[in-house]
Amino acid sequence: MNYDYLIKEIIQVIQSNFEEEATGHDWHHIERVYNMACHLQSIEGGNKVIIQLAALLHDISDHKFNGGILNKGGEVAYDLLLEKGCDAATAEEVKNVIDCVSFKGANVEDHALTLEGKIVQDADRLDALGAIGVARAFAFGGNKNRPIYEPANTPVLHDTFEEYANAKSHTINHFYEKLLLLKDRLHTPTAIKLGEERHLFMERFLEQFYKEWNVNTIN
Ligand code: ADP
Ligand code: NI
Repeated sequence: MNYDYLIKEIIQVIQSNFEEEATGHDWHHIERVYNMACHLQSIEGGNKVIIQLAALLHDISDHKFNGGILNKGGEVAYDLLLEKGCDAATAEEVKNVIDCVSFKGANVEDHALTLEGKIVQDADRLDALGAIGVARAFAFGGNKNRPIYEPANTPVLHDTFEEYANAKSHTINHFYEKLLLLKDRLHTPTAIKLGEERHLFMERFLEQFYKEWNVNTIN
């Protein structure tokens, strides 16, 4: 199996599928996750082909955009890989990684992950943090017609994936329900280090946001 050729083919499919995406899950998100996953792999190790394929395919059928079907991505990725001539063992490993990657709620424990799964999940999570994380959160919220902020509507730490997936809160809540929790849910030392700066940036963003919101606190 020529994996370099397979990866190129998958890049083409994903690039054309995700081109006109306006929710922060566009091709450039996939590209950043792919590049970050390759970077993490170069330091942390793990099977490079599995990591590359899972990073490229991790959002192929996300519950947030497929009509709410949970855990379907792995299956769709598996079928596409076989269609492109990939061996079943590799496709199966990629499927397992993809099914575990997505965030499922504040009080929902992450799946036990292989090193490959940890690396792809770390790369995906790092792209939800920092300046890009802020941009993506508001792009997603706007696309779903969600308000920026409703002070009376406070965050909920979800106990199940279903509750998390069906929540329709304003975007500032998303920081408390997911984004600020991610720094403690990264796995590899390299990602944990990169996450620190991004986390601090989001804290500073929120501080400034409330300062500007509360005009009466200006002194
Ligand atoms: P995951 O599978 O872990 O949710 P994704 O790669 O699908 O990760 O990306 C999730 C992105 O979607 C995050 O960057 C986040 O900003 C955005 N997002 C998801 N849910 C919401 C929400 N309720 N409000 C705002 N942004 C959201
Ligand atoms: Ni993603």
